[in-house]
Parts: sequence; C-alpha cells; structure tokens
Amino acid sequence: MNSPLVWAHRGASGYAPENTIEAFQLAADMGADGVELDVQLTRDGQIVVCHDETIDRTSDGAGWLKDYTLDELKNMNFDNGNKAYEGAEIPTMQEVFDVLRDTGLVINIELKTGIIFYPGLEEAIVELTKANHFEDRVIYSSFNHYSVMKIKELDPQAKTGFLYADGTIDMPGYAKDHGVDALHPALYNIQFPDFMKQCREKEIDVNVWTVNDGKYLKMCQDAGVHAVITNYPKKALELFGRK
Ligand code: G3P
Ligand code: MG
Repeated sequence: MNSPLVWAHRGASGYAPENTIEAFQLAADMGADGVELDVQLTRDGQIVVCHDETIDRTSDGAGWLKDYTLDELKNMNFDNGNKAYEGAEIPTMQEVFDVLRDTGLVINIELKTGIIFYPGLEEAIVELTKANHFEDRVIYSSFNHYSVMKIKELDPQAKTGFLYADGTIDMPGYAKDHGVDALHPALYNIQFPDFMKQCREKEIDVNVWTVNDGKYLKMCQDAGVHAVITNYPKKALELFGRK
C-alpha cells in the first residue's frame, strides 16, 4: 500500500522542543519527507518560527512575540520545558532554510495570521523563500485564507493549501474555486461523505493534521491522503513500513 508523505509537525516535536532547529534536524535525521512550521514577525520585522502568538508556553519569557525584537527573543530559552534541550533558541526562517538546505525535505510554512495579521509577512516570506531558492520545496498554508490568496497573488506558482478545522460543506469545491493545490484538514474531516473522492477528482492534495495515534495514521494511509502532519515522524515511518 502506498505510504502518505510524513511531515514532522513543528519539526519532530514529539521528541524535541517544537519549532526549534533541533526538532527540524531530528526530523531530517529520522527520514521525514518534510516539516511543518509556523511563522510570525518580530517587532523589528524578522521572520521567526513559533506557534503561539505569545511566548509564555514555549519559552522562559512572557507576553506577545510581536512586542520583542529578534535579539531579545534570541536571549530567551525556547526549550519548552525539555531540560535535555536547555538553551534551545527560537529560529529565524533563514536558519531553518540553512539547516534543511542539503536535505530533500519540503517545508510546509504555516502563516500564523489568525489573530495578528502581521502586515508584510506574506511579502517577506515569499521573498525569503525565493532568495533561498526553496520555491519548489515550500507549500504555504494558513487558517487565514486571505493570507493564502495573498501568497498566490505575490507568486502565482507558489504551492498553497487551506488549513481548516471545522466541518465545512464542499471544501474540495472551495479549494478548486480558489485555485489552491491542497486542503489541510483536521483529521476528522477526511471521513466526511465523498470528501477524499472529491479531492481526487479535483486533484486537490489532502495533507492532514495532527495525526499522532497509530490508528489514525493507518486511517490516513487507507484513505490515500497525500501527507500526514505528525509530531512522531519516526513512528509514522515505521507504521507505513518505511523504516
Ligand atoms: O499546519 C498544521 C497544524 O500545525 C495546524 O494547527 O495550531 O498546530 O498550527 P497548529
Ligand atoms: Mg502549524
């Protein structure tokens, strides 16, 4: 049976602190096909990789990420409470391109523009991806579909996907109408009537998050999804018979 691609969610975040260089390197070492990560802008306009809009959960700092400069954030500890990784830093997007450059991994860049819109983030990330010659290895996604459309406007060749969580009717048609390449549904959505069939007919890739449990990894494989986004790439690769 075909294996879905395995994309490490926030890097290999089941094993190392999420969204750190260590987690991305580990994903590559484990043989993942790609990584998913979240981008935001610092106060001084630098693209950094971090999931929450606030830094309280993942660092020893507190408050809104947008209120700190890159230098200030770099002086904080982003080990997410994992003492084996004490001193882990918040990475810039440039640092992630650098660490993955010589691997074959793709990068699913999620624009974190749901609460704070970060004006200029779309322009900055498209420019940085181009400067690094990663256009063919990046797929952009966001829960903010205006952000995804902005990416397409800036780079019509860019690969894009709509992230969503809730049970919306006719997402395949919506994706096709807006010209995106993929849907990124929360796991349970793939069970909706004819969902996978319609995506196949409309040639929309299905990249599912966040699939950690063996039972659901298997369900995704049986359904024929394009990629699973998982915290446990090693486990997924083993289950799909690739390790
Ligand atoms: O991109 C997949 C997944 O990361 C979306 O949700 O909240 O983990 O960024 P979240
Ligand atoms: Mg994400």
